[in-house]
Amino acid sequence: MAPAYEPLLAGETSSNNNDSNIIITQDEVPINKSRVTVVGSGNWGSVAAKLIASNTLKLANFHDEVRMWVYEEVLPSGDKLSEENVKYLPGIKLGNNVVAVPDLEHAVRDANMLVFVTPHQFMEGICKRISGKIREDVEAISLIKGMEVKREGPCMISSLITEHLGVNCCVLMGANIANEIAVEKFSEATVGYKENREIAEKWVRLFNTPYFMVSAVQDVAGVELCGTLKNVVALAAGFVDGLEMGNNTKAAIMRIGLREMKAFSKLLFSSVKDSTFFESCGVADLITTCLGGRNRKCAEAFARNGGKRSFDELEAEMLQGQKLQGVSTAKEVYEVLSHRGWLELFPLFATVHEICIGSLPPTSIVEYSQS
Ligand SMILES: NC(=O)c1ccc[n+]([C@@H]2O[C@H](COP(=O)([O-])OP(=O)(O)OC[C@H]3O[C@@H](n4cnc5c(N)ncnc54)[C@H](O)[C@@H]3O)[C@@H](O)[C@H]2O)c1
Repeated sequence: MAPAYEPLLAGETSSNNNDSNIIITQDEVPINKSRVTVVGSGNWGSVAAKLIASNTLKLANFHDEVRMWVYEEVLPSGDKLSEENVKYLPGIKLGNNVVAVPDLEHAVRDANMLVFVTPHQFMEGICKRISGKIREDVEAISLIKGMEVKREGPCMISSLITEHLGVNCCVLMGANIANEIAVEKFSEATVGYKENREIAEKWVRLFNTPYFMVSAVQDVAGVELCGTLKNVVALAAGFVDGLEMGNNTKAAIMRIGLREMKAFSKLLFSSVKDSTFFESCGVADLITTCLGGRNRKCAEAFARNGGKRSFDELEAEMLQGQKLQGVSTAKEVYEVLSHRGWLELFPLFATVHEICIGSLPPTSIVEYSQS
């Protein structure tokens, strides 16, 4: 990662001037080079920047430089996060062409490809800050798991981005525990898109590497809901681990969870395809999250403590600044279920939330299935 980006001074030319984005190749064919900015620099944000930066160096139609917006934090040592990501991805080189930018507006203003990858609770504020300050030809992709529940119903993060910024937004989800991809262990991911296959293929080229195989499906809602809802099932799997209920029980919970993920997604969006649940974003992400993710880990500790230590406390103690998504997603899903009268249709989702808020003990995770 290169040192923090110096903002352009008044009078300097920015690449907002479209001419500066066009280069002439040897055979005289002009290429409109894309500029990529990653909005977010946590664990997954940093790894996403690493993947992208390795590809922009190789692909002719992308500028080499990848800007990464860093929510600035000053560490106890006095070091700044924008100088080295020692907090969220220690020991991994992101590439010299990744430039850390602590100023959000400067980070996004020249880019025509924006990659959003922050914990979901910060996204509405980020969208408000950059609205009207981005290029008109921006394409976006969200790697964010979670949803916002509003009075008029649930709003997926890709829709939030589209509504606030007026841009098309794809999603990328998959069985992707960031620390494993950081050390280049093989995995897969799924891009979900609405209509424009060409844009989806451009995102695939930007992320795909020999150790990170990306494919695209025309089902943005299905891909995003898979990525979001599996965190609720991971909490259930963690409760089972904490109660030492064994592998059969955990497999049963994962199967029931997958069934609820599919039913909930299809009730919300009739366009969601069954086949999406067999992509990396579906069953593969569910398996990896229930075996290894942070939601499972904190839920295991919660159950071991008999629900006496709150998730906030466990998150602060166990995750060193990383954010748990599953607990807030379980609450958001519960709000949708109760608002629509669907609670009885989704006993696992409902029970997970009730355990998280302490109205049921962790042992209830297997009791609902008798009804
Ligand atoms: N880590 C993974 O393995 C992984 C894998 C796939 C998807 N995801 C998803 O990616 C998204 C981002 O997760 P992550 O792992 O990169 O983040 P993280 O949980 O590791 O880090 C939290 C980030 O939020 C920033 N932050 C803290 N306060 C903030 C504020 N007020 N405003 C804006 N930013 C603030 C921190 O500086 C840090 O960059 C989440 O939706 C997550 O579910 C994560």
